[in-house]
Amino acid sequence: MSASHILEFMLKRRSVMARNMVAPGPDAVALEQILTIAARVPDHGKLTPWRFVVVQGDDRATLGAVAETAFLAENGEAEPGLQQAAAQQFLRAPCVIAVIARPVEHPKIPRSEQILSVGAVCMNLLTAAQAMGFAAQWLTGAAAYAPEVLARLGGQPGDEIAGFMYLGTAAEAPSERPRPALSEIFQFGLPEAADG
Ligand SMILES: Cc1cc2nc3c(=O)[nH]c(=O)nc-3n(C[C@H](O)[C@H](O)[C@H](O)COP(=O)(O)O)c2cc1C
Repeated sequence: MSASHILEFMLKRRSVMARNMVAPGPDAVALEQILTIAARVPDHGKLTPWRFVVVQGDDRATLGAVAETAFLAENGEAEPGLQQAAAQQFLRAPCVIAVIARPVEHPKIPRSEQILSVGAVCMNLLTAAQAMGFAAQWLTGAAAYAPEVLARLGGQPGDEIAGFMYLGTAAEAPSERPRPALSEIFQFGLPEAADG
């Protein structure tokens, strides 16, 4: 792929909503490539503060049942629709990759830098999957903050779920969404110094 093709892809890249995904997801060979690219990110101190759990097949319902239990513990039975959505959330795509942040204690490299590196992992994963033609979306939701779900994924104390990366095939092509105007998010040169 030429540089111009890469830039063209990056300029037009879009996520596909998980509810618009159908099978197939990536096979084992594609998954290995996606995860290899995901792990190829800047990582201060080479601490590797991330882990992946690939959730496919029946594991999606198993993890959904844990998310449902967490939902009930938090909200009770008053919202059956939301309870069902919690249970079925991982069934929306054929493949869900849980990206777990596992920051370590380090004398010089703060936790915040390690979490940023995990964000880069998520973005690389998304980009790799989309470049291979898969539909992909980075989601969190309440399940990402439920200790029960983290534990079922093998999480350890101090770990966080950085995202559930949904992968599949687009049932329909996504339309463009509004992007921030560049003029609102950057400037050339330093702003005026506060003290005049
Ligand atoms: C950390 C993180 C968590 C997100 N969680 C959700 C979510 O729970 N629900 C949702 O609708 N979108 C969520 N999003 C946004 C989706 O990924 C959305 O599809 C994305 O903004 C579209 O981006 P794109 O088309 O530029 O790739 C999240 C995004 C990030 C970065």
